[in-house]
Amino acid sequence: MRGQNSLPARAERPWWRDAVTYQIYIRSFADSNGDGKGDIEGIRSRLPYLKKLGVDAIWITPWYPSPQKDHGYDVADYMDIEPDYGILAGAERLIKETHDHGMRILVDIVPNHSSDLHEWFQDALKSAPGSPERDRYWFKEGKGEHGELPPNNWRSVFGGPAWERVIEADGQPGQWYLHLFAVEQPDFNWENKEVHDYFKDVLKFWLNRGVDGFRIDVAHGMVKLHGLPDIVAPDPKSEMLAPENRPFWDQDGVHEIYREWRKILDSYPDNRMAVAEAWVSPSSRIARYLRPDELMNSFNFEFLSSPWKPDELKKMINHSLEALAEVGAPSSWVFNNHDVVRSVDRFDLGLIAGSGTTTLERQGDEKKFNIVRGTQRARAGALLMLALPGGAYVYQGEELALPEARDIPEDRLTDPRWSMSGQTDRGRDGCRVPMPWTKDSSGAFGFSNDPALTPEDAWLPQSSSWGSFSVEVQDGDPASTLTMYRRALAIRRNESGLGDGPMTWIDSEPLVLAFSRLGNFACYVNFGEPIDLPEGSEVLLSSGPLVGRKIPTDTALWLRLSK
Ligand code: NOJ
Repeated sequence: MRGQNSLPARAERPWWRDAVTYQIYIRSFADSNGDGKGDIEGIRSRLPYLKKLGVDAIWITPWYPSPQKDHGYDVADYMDIEPDYGILAGAERLIKETHDHGMRILVDIVPNHSSDLHEWFQDALKSAPGSPERDRYWFKEGKGEHGELPPNNWRSVFGGPAWERVIEADGQPGQWYLHLFAVEQPDFNWENKEVHDYFKDVLKFWLNRGVDGFRIDVAHGMVKLHGLPDIVAPDPKSEMLAPENRPFWDQDGVHEIYREWRKILDSYPDNRMAVAEAWVSPSSRIARYLRPDELMNSFNFEFLSSPWKPDELKKMINHSLEALAEVGAPSSWVFNNHDVVRSVDRFDLGLIAGSGTTTLERQGDEKKFNIVRGTQRARAGALLMLALPGGAYVYQGEELALPEARDIPEDRLTDPRWSMSGQTDRGRDGCRVPMPWTKDSSGAFGFSNDPALTPEDAWLPQSSSWGSFSVEVQDGDPASTLTMYRRALAIRRNESGLGDGPMTWIDSEPLVLAFSRLGNFACYVNFGEPIDLPEGSEVLLSSGPLVGRKIPTDTALWLRLSK
């Protein structure tokens, strides 16, 4: 038996132990005003869709004023709304209406860095070296005779050095500032108390407006090893999935921040929560973020980074459940988000999410990509994920089995990874192309209310095939991926053994993952040759058609076992 054992019944335990949360990449979800960018009114108009899908909560990627150098993860003002996306009153309406639809709502908080247009950074640029304004960020003197070399050897996650030199008031090059991401994303100095106080106010600002919690961006990155020492390693590259001994990832000090934040969350009613985007490994390091006085969820990136191989998936599942049981936390499974190649492509090509700095490593070889097999695997993976103990995060378009968009012309790529990698990495735009809602291409396949908007006019151009994946085409089709997700979420809601709680592995052939949950529920995922259905079992849901009483390759089944 694995997972959490003696838990209160689902209705009695906090919602975040079981929830399925839908990630809305706001720029690409629904456009209400015909400017080719998604917005808050667009989300409001699609709340009935989300309700029908059956998710428990939504998470909205950053919606704050931003110059959009990293599509909102460069925040210029944490307590307002990006004009392209709407106004604060609209955000408040959305929060209320999400609740009226019986769902919760999370917002994204970006505490590792701000935009260079944030008032504090602008003040810092205008202030002298050593001033309190500069101390809110990491300003340092350079090395070399004239300070012409960066203060240390850290590299940006997006490519190139992690330091940028500024021009001082005398017109001469002066100090350098740290940016672990784009040049326009200066890192905050969390050794400064003002930064702590500021973010506490930001949390309260949104909690007072009724949000149910936060997704914390780069949650393992805010605290840097004191003194900012060089990385002692042959290759100082900064991948998000932390190689050990990086002086800016997973430092002990981050946990103190989360203890402060937990007190704030707990001071509000109705189980407010936070989920960490902490690319740390192994699971025992993730568990540290989920100690009882810290955060509630942390994305399970080890699972997201597993290839489509039963032994590896099983190993990850076991490690995660064991590590999180130690701290009494639920697991938060995730197969897709706005940073990784979509699972339809990944599971077919054997790619590992998060790795790679060239287009081939990131997106794989298009000529080898088999979309039929990739879709089968992504669907089977979804039923696996939704049957495991804990909660799950679903990224918009996953419920349509959207593939990665591989045909965005180079001159339309917008991800800073493209330019900062010297144009060797196409970056993440391929998983961020606007949602197709209708079969017909007008209004960019229904993404926009304005029928005159074409697929090329959307902020990222949509593929000509996009309409075939649309909600309209899949709605009501019993074989569609959308229908499968709706059914899975409906079953999950009524099946008290699903969500958090114990699971037991069932002995099976090496290329099969099989486990049971309370209530004689079982999930079988077949990675090998067709196998027989367990005797006397009743099929509740299948990710693909069965062949007689056999489970085909790359197919998952939800079953009621005979006693
Ligand atoms: C993680 C976010 O998911 C990603 O989109 C962003 O570029 C980095 N953090 C920097 O904020």
